[in-house]
Amino acid sequence: MTELPSGVRHVANYLTPADQAALVDDIRAVVAEAPLYTPAMPRTGKPLSVRMTNCGALGWVTDRDGGYRYQPTHPATGRPWPSIPPLLTAIWNALSGYPHPPEACLVNFYAPGARMGLHQDRDEDEFAAPVLSISLGDACLFRVGGTQRGGRTVSIRLESGDLVVLGGAGRLCYHGVDRIYPGTSDLLRQPGRINLTLRRVTRPKP
Ligand code: SIN
Ligand code: FE2
Repeated sequence: MTELPSGVRHVANYLTPADQAALVDDIRAVVAEAPLYTPAMPRTGKPLSVRMTNCGALGWVTDRDGGYRYQPTHPATGRPWPSIPPLLTAIWNALSGYPHPPEACLVNFYAPGARMGLHQDRDEDEFAAPVLSISLGDACLFRVGGTQRGGRTVSIRLESGDLVVLGGAGRLCYHGVDRIYPGTSDLLRQPGRINLTLRRVTRPKP
């Protein structure tokens, strides 16, 4: 067993194959309404290798001129994001330990060869809520460290149906995806991995 940083929880095998298939159907419907787009780094405009879309009242986006941010509309279509599917809200209610609903679900699609560098999720105003991450499709090598850049990291393999919760002391831990293992799941019609992250963005009024 790999010792994870405090506040980082890996729930292996949380979703049944039937739930995974139902979620993939939900995400296909989201992508039909809000197509995957290629995000770009702030300032340099360098494209990310992961393609993205969102569902929820707010979606996380990034491009050269606007940088990292949440916004209520899709950057290419200008339309509001589709709503968060009930199955995702149910997973949030079961695992987040947070009494308010998620506002954003970032959908990441990793083709074989895509990766995501170490980063913190810190564009939200509310850090009392965890970030809840769901893996579907091909397995990946996920890396997580502490809350300071450059610290020690540990790597774990995430399989389809696994969850990761970054909460409490782990909410601002650095994390990233070093590689995808193509051909390790037959859930999707094409090789690759879908990652869903549920987030609370705004602070509820007291
Ligand atoms: C993310 O940090 O947005 C994605 C993490 C993952 O793909 O597991
Ligand atoms: Fe992240």
